[in-house]
Amino acid sequence: MTAPALEIVAVSRRFGGLLAVDDVTFSIAQGGLSALIGPNGAGKTTLFNAITNLFPPSSGEVRFFGQSLAGLDGHRMAELGLVRTFQTARVFPGMTVLENALAGAHLHVRSHPVSQMFRLPAARAEERKLSEKASALIELIGLSAFRDAAATDLPMGAQKNLEVVRALMANPRMLLLDEPAAGLNDSETADLAALLTAIRDIGVTIMVVEHNMSLVMGIADQVIVLDAGKLVAIGSPAQIQSDPRVIEAYVGLEA
Ligand SMILES: Nc1ncnc2c1ncn2[C@@H]1O[C@H](COP(=O)(O)OP(=O)(O)OP(=O)(O)O)[C@@H](O)[C@H]1O
Ligand SMILES: [Mg+2]
Repeated sequence: MTAPALEIVAVSRRFGGLLAVDDVTFSIAQGGLSALIGPNGAGKTTLFNAITNLFPPSSGEVRFFGQSLAGLDGHRMAELGLVRTFQTARVFPGMTVLENALAGAHLHVRSHPVSQMFRLPAARAEERKLSEKASALIELIGLSAFRDAAATDLPMGAQKNLEVVRALMANPRMLLLDEPAAGLNDSETADLAALLTAIRDIGVTIMVVEHNMSLVMGIADQVIVLDAGKLVAIGSPAQIQSDPRVIEAYVGLEA
């Protein structure tokens, strides 16, 4: 038996008097696409921040393929294969779309810095391979026409999709995506759904925070529901859609 990709064990995160994540326990098996849903303020981003130690858990533990993440920073987590994106797009200004994508790969450039400096053949071959991979992902997300444009010139939706591409360039074993579809139009959302499905199918484990229910129910294998910091349900999309606790958590939104 291999360890789950992610184990969240009795994780809480407190901000002053507010328990933003309240004793949450669940695990995510390797492979597959899990959606983390819940009303605004439910604690979804806080849980991502706790997993990635941006705002570490006040108590509890997170394990990634069996290894505790306690005390690790984002860089070290990326080396282990855990990569996240943020709710607000953060593309690098002053760089093209392709350069932004390539920036995600810097951890995995294996050539020695010296050979890179002198652009020795091994480094050049590696750069070319990375460029080809980045171009393929850029095409998959429908941004080929903008490959050499400044990333900040892209519409916001396209910038968010570019962030997913950049995260993928780090060769993650698991991706944490915080509302990747927020602000996307229908065609950008369809491109994103295709990209996420393709990544899942090559074995990358995905956990995605998402409010777009048709996207969630269309692509997720497992849905995790948070409300007021607490885990209220976990199950297949069909189970979740008929769960009275979930419907209750969403009553305000359905109206
Ligand atoms: N850094 C912080 N300092 C203080 N309070 C915070 C901080 N981050 C989040 N909170 C609070 O924790 C609660 C959960 O917020 P969080 O951003 O995790 O919700 P969310 O489920 O991601 O909501 P949304 O769907 O709106 O993104 C909110 O009450 C929020 O105000
Ligand atoms: Mg959030």
